[in-house]
Amino acid sequence: MLNFSLIILTITLTPCFGEKINPPCVLSHVNIYAILLQTQTESQTKKRRRINAGRTGEIMTKQEEIRQLKAEQDAVILAHYYVDPQVQEMADYIGDSFYLSKVAAGLGNRTLVFCGVSFMGESGKLLSPDKVVLMPDAQADCPMAHMVTREEVEQYRKEYPDLAVVCYINSTAEIKSWSDVCVTSANAVRIVRNLPNQDILFIPDKNLGRYVAGQVPEKHVMLVKGCCPVHDHMSPGEVSALKEIHPHAQVLAHPECNAQVLKLADYIGSTAGILKYAAGSSSREFIICTENGVRYELERQNPGKEFYFPDTEPVCRDMKKITLDKIIHVLRTGQNQASVPEAYVPSAGRALEQMLKLAQ
Ligand code: 13P
Ligand code: SF4
Repeated sequence: MLNFSLIILTITLTPCFGEKINPPCVLSHVNIYAILLQTQTESQTKKRRRINAGRTGEIMTKQEEIRQLKAEQDAVILAHYYVDPQVQEMADYIGDSFYLSKVAAGLGNRTLVFCGVSFMGESGKLLSPDKVVLMPDAQADCPMAHMVTREEVEQYRKEYPDLAVVCYINSTAEIKSWSDVCVTSANAVRIVRNLPNQDILFIPDKNLGRYVAGQVPEKHVMLVKGCCPVHDHMSPGEVSALKEIHPHAQVLAHPECNAQVLKLADYIGSTAGILKYAAGSSSREFIICTENGVRYELERQNPGKEFYFPDTEPVCRDMKKITLDKIIHVLRTGQNQASVPEAYVPSAGRALEQMLKLAQ
């Protein structure tokens, strides 16, 4: 820009040099030069300010916009521990699946923004049918939520007349509607133990189901083949290798992990259970066998403690689809509202309500 101003000055002064120098003419050109420089300095400063504001204020601006939209829409943000830290920071309520479903059932706000996968939004809608439940990404879905068929469930019902179908909350509303009661990883053992039925079909997670069966040996627990790809693929070899490097570290595992990983665990529990255990333990080092989004809250709550994750980092791509931009979009437009087909509402809702009752 400075070069540009010198060129303009030279061009402007040229006619004067061809004539007798006229002081007023020089003066006027010097004035023009000064004005040009001043104008450019001002516009450069403004431009720099704009760039700086863009760099340092970009996140702030999104946060401010979300806060403003929330106030306008009477909305609250609920987020699972597996979403990106940026999103966790914006949440009014953050927790595991059980906590989020409990909170959703009791909120007075008109709009709930569910930062998680679709079964969470469906559960929110089932528990709060009058509320608007917004999903920042309509494609964020849990693959395990679909991993059982109606035919399988009906077959077991025929074979075992006294069967209780126990459905992990990580399932579609349709699957919930075939079930007697829902559970989460935080309450599955307690609920199965307290059911009057002897025969239990646990759907769709075979790993959590197997873990529950081990904790409640007095029941006959049957399983299907579903699983969470993120937890099921965790490698026991990688966990053992970490344990060799950090012999004093405690292994904390989510019950969705495969049986070989669970065998290595010092503690098995839901995401919230893992957080609680780490906070209360006198150990300084932990090997964490669950999705890596939980690292943010573990480190925030426990400065000075070390958390190691398996080398093949357990990442749920669907949970990571949630971004601040998508939250802004749904709050602005009201798009991506969670809904449950009418046919599934009564029985799916009942299975969820039953869980909240039995988990007390
Ligand atoms: P929890 O929230 O019950 O710990 O379950 C983990 C999970 O996989 C959620 O999708
Ligand atoms: Fe589903 Fe597993 Fe992702 Fe949870 S972590 S949403 S169970 S795929």
